[in-house]
Amino acid sequence: MLDWSDLSSVPTPRRASADDAAPADATGLGEIERGGARVSVDDKRMINARADVNQLLPLKYRWAWEKYLSGCNNHWMPTEVSMQADIALWKSRDGLTDDERRMLKRNLGFFAASESLVANNIVLAIYRHLTNPECRQYLLRQAFEEAIHTHTFQYIVESLALDEGELFNMYREVPSITDKAAWALKHTQNLDDPEFRTGTPEADQAFLRDLVAFYVIFEGMWFYTGFAQILSLGRRNKMVGIAEQYQYILRDESIHLNFGIDVINQIKLENPHLWSAAFQEEVRGMIAEAAELEAAYGRDTIPRGFLGLNAALCEQYMHVIANRRCAQLGLQPVYAETENPFPWMSEAMDLKKEKNFFETRVIEYQNGGALSWD
Ligand SMILES: [Fe+2]
Ligand SMILES: [Fe+2]
Repeated sequence: MLDWSDLSSVPTPRRASADDAAPADATGLGEIERGGARVSVDDKRMINARADVNQLLPLKYRWAWEKYLSGCNNHWMPTEVSMQADIALWKSRDGLTDDERRMLKRNLGFFAASESLVANNIVLAIYRHLTNPECRQYLLRQAFEEAIHTHTFQYIVESLALDEGELFNMYREVPSITDKAAWALKHTQNLDDPEFRTGTPEADQAFLRDLVAFYVIFEGMWFYTGFAQILSLGRRNKMVGIAEQYQYILRDESIHLNFGIDVINQIKLENPHLWSAAFQEEVRGMIAEAAELEAAYGRDTIPRGFLGLNAALCEQYMHVIANRRCAQLGLQPVYAETENPFPWMSEAMDLKKEKNFFETRVIEYQNGGALSWD
């Protein structure tokens, strides 16, 4: 067990001076600098770092390392969740209404492709430009979790014998889903150019926009109405296997979101010039635009309300979530204060309160790390 209280005992080798600072090797794949100066904590940076990105220690950002440990402690596999009750309900003629089936299928279709989009963004866009090894350690863990989430949708399709082509193509064929995916993708595409480098205010802001689009909006807003829709079914004892899988995904995603918020706030701290008044307004605009896209998705997936759920409540919930994300980034809210229509979502996020959930093999993965849900 590492002793965090004693980081001061880490030997502080010679600091690289400005003179011997080679051009930053952001990838960690450049020529090895034989006999180069050892890494000092002070040289580590979130972006545009000069310190060697291949050296995890000495640690600078403990919050990133702690999230890596929490992610490992939360390990689960979708195949450990029984789908028997879901299969019986899905096949029964009157187990679910047509409206419930429409909502469920579109929700699954949205997540099935979104998990892949998020994974691609981590591996192909973010990882290259985040020049800190402890953050990269977490990104590697997160990438594996996104693979497990994609596996979940493969397992659901197989269990319920759903039309795989229909589900995995929804992000191209259902306009309310396409609109969200396309909105987020344009921020990844900015970084897709192999010549893209951080290091100018414009490029660094493009990188921040991508972090906001994926961590704060995709995983931190759009996923949350998706969770509320499925957990609302689960609360009525419908599709309980899928609802349990969504609770595990929600637990993972709440760490992904908090990691993204910490990354953005740390970059702000180290590069205050990027977080200008104009840029803050732009980010608030992105969040408001994303909430509107989500409201349209809600109207499309739930054209008629059913017990405990309708499009208006989903929109209200999105306003609550949007304001919360603004607060986490230190921004003014974008909507008037409103009541949370799904207060039970915060209970759903605390798996420890649900007696049944750890009666599966998943409990064996817990190796002493405390679960934290903020
Ligand atoms: Fe995910
Ligand atoms: Fe995620």
